Amino acid sequence: MVRKVVESDSARSQRSAIPEIELKGISKQFDSGNANTRRPVLQDISLAVERGEIVTLLGPSGCGKSTLLRIVAGLLAPSAGEVFVNGILPVNARQMMSFIFQDATLLPWRTVAQNVGLGLELEHAARPLRAERIAAMLRLVGLEDAGKSYPRQLSGGMKMRVSIARALVHRPRILLMDEPFAALDEINRDRLNEEVLRLHREQNWTVLFVTHSVAEAVFLSTRVVVLAAHPGRIAHIHEVNLPWPRESAMRLSPAFDAEAARVSHLLREATAISRPDGEGALG
Ligand SMILES: Nc1ncnc2c1ncn2[C@@H]1O[C@H](COP(=O)(O)OP(=O)(O)OP(=O)(O)O)[C@@H](O)[C@H]1O
Ligand SMILES: [Mg+2]
Repeated sequence: MVRKVVESDSARSQRSAIPEIELKGISKQFDSGNANTRRPVLQDISLAVERGEIVTLLGPSGCGKSTLLRIVAGLLAPSAGEVFVNGILPVNARQMMSFIFQDATLLPWRTVAQNVGLGLELEHAARPLRAERIAAMLRLVGLEDAGKSYPRQLSGGMKMRVSIARALVHRPRILLMDEPFAALDEINRDRLNEEVLRLHREQNWTVLFVTHSVAEAVFLSTRVVVLAAHPGRIAHIHEVNLPWPRESAMRLSPAFDAEAARVSHLLREATAISRPDGEGALG
């Protein structure tokens, strides 16, 4: 086998127009467990996410969405393939990324402001800078009056906004969001989707987003990556054909319905070829 010459991190980052996130032939296999679980979880995933895009991963449970996000975050190494974030290895790019997990795991004994500032404390940021950044982030997510509250006093939607503020306090340029709104009711989910889009416009984020909701995927995304499972692989990449900026009224438009129907169909197809016995094939 010919060994590819791997370009140095600095040489790559100096080139212009490199994708913000670049996955090249990523496969992942966990060594632990029985023969069943040693089958590849991800197989040959290649994807380039450009700066400013919102790309959603959609696929049946177990297709490896969270695993893929953890690989991009540098929390997990791929078994094969290469991954670059802004041209460098994920472990070296952690400063520019924030990971928002499905459940807003706030520390119950700390106030909202103390939860948001946790990362800054760990970095030993000076107290005035900390206070200023915390206040700015709480304003950003519309919780400027909740700084002194404790998590138990907040609704689920507010807790999620605190966890977004906590992720944003580092001013990331890349957001990795793993089913962040799954536990919310539809009204709050819609509202937070709109907030993500507003913040995306303001902050010029690049977002890799995981959801099980077709409507959420269509509303938020530039592209929807539909994955099949066993092994986790890309079944289809769908470019969402809706204008920007996305407005809440668009959800009621025939164009939105058409996009949702198309993505729904692709998801059904991907699920149909997702065979737990590993016999699934694309075609
Ligand atoms: N640390 C691990 N060790 C062994 N197997 C793992 C590990 N982490 C994940 N897996 C397996 O990898 C597969 C993909 O898991 P992953 O959590 O990435 O799926 P997912 O697409 O995020 O699913 P869901 O939609 O339910 O969140 C699953 O079969 C899971 O059991
Ligand atoms: Mg998951």
